[in-house]
Amino acid sequence: MTIGLEVERSTDVNNDGYHEFKLGEFTFRRDEFFVYISWPTGSHMMSADAFLRALQRDVAWDFFYGVVNFDGVFGTVNHYGNVDVFAGRYNDSYRKAELDYSENHETPHIRETFKAVLDDWTNESFDPFASPHETGSAFGLKNGNNTGAVTRQRVAAERMVGVQGDQPIRSDESGYPLNRMFADVDQSEPVVEVEPGFEGEVAAFSLFAYLSRSDVTWNPSVVSVCKDSLACPTTEEYILPIIHGNDRVEWFIQLSDQITWEVEDRDTGAVRSRVVMKAGDVAAMPADIRHQGYSPKRSMLLVWENNSEKIPEAIASGKAPTYPVEF
Ligand code: PHB
Ligand code: FE
Repeated sequence: MTIGLEVERSTDVNNDGYHEFKLGEFTFRRDEFFVYISWPTGSHMMSADAFLRALQRDVAWDFFYGVVNFDGVFGTVNHYGNVDVFAGRYNDSYRKAELDYSENHETPHIRETFKAVLDDWTNESFDPFASPHETGSAFGLKNGNNTGAVTRQRVAAERMVGVQGDQPIRSDESGYPLNRMFADVDQSEPVVEVEPGFEGEVAAFSLFAYLSRSDVTWNPSVVSVCKDSLACPTTEEYILPIIHGNDRVEWFIQLSDQITWEVEDRDTGAVRSRVVMKAGDVAAMPADIRHQGYSPKRSMLLVWENNSEKIPEAIASGKAPTYPVEF
């Protein structure tokens, strides 16, 4: 059966209550514990909770920058207008055995398909954006839905949070409670005395107070935009649900607590390094790696992205280096 924008969904649900989906030659099926993906040359299974956490990011970030690996086998590559869906493409063993497979789809088609899968497979009890400690289970027979959570839009300022007409500061009246892990974070806001005539231009806010009220994990919001420079802070707990393959350099500033990053070669998955970032540490992730972060306590991280659409091509063609600075 085809529903909206050519989403191919089974007419009936399976024994566990879930629909099955097709995207090109890929098929997607879930049961109580697992998700099963198949394609013409192979098949794969993933834990339903890990799959839904990854899918949630891919959908909410509209396929993000570069490669979103759900795990070492399955994922997507964003070409900004169309998207590759792949199996084994960034996995040395699959490549050597010539078992890797990839298909290209127009963004609206894969976007609608992935949104439909996410909504159908997420039960009432599960919020894929939440820390595992702050949500119920992803497992079991189909049981309701959590459409409000899975269609949550990420906060994206046009200029800066708090500037007149832009995103409001999430202070005491925000309706967002202080997170249990950030009970010690000072909630006072800076006092700004603006010269008459500049009321809409000058603002300041406490980024720590703002982040201490974030109800999601591993979901960068855009708090300031200066041309292509995007400041995207986020609160992290447990594991980044995707292994992100960069198509540009990105900078990390660890604002609180600690994250351990496993860094691998983007194309083969070979281990490159482990980066332990403590509060105050700054690191640049090169454009030819993939990475996954582990945060034992809820931590605050500032991700600094250059959003220029020219960068992926400049790096892929060798015109720009894969690393940010020459010391
Ligand atoms: C990243 O891929 O760089 C990334 C994604 C989400 C986060 C943090 C970092 O929350
Ligand atoms: Fe990244």
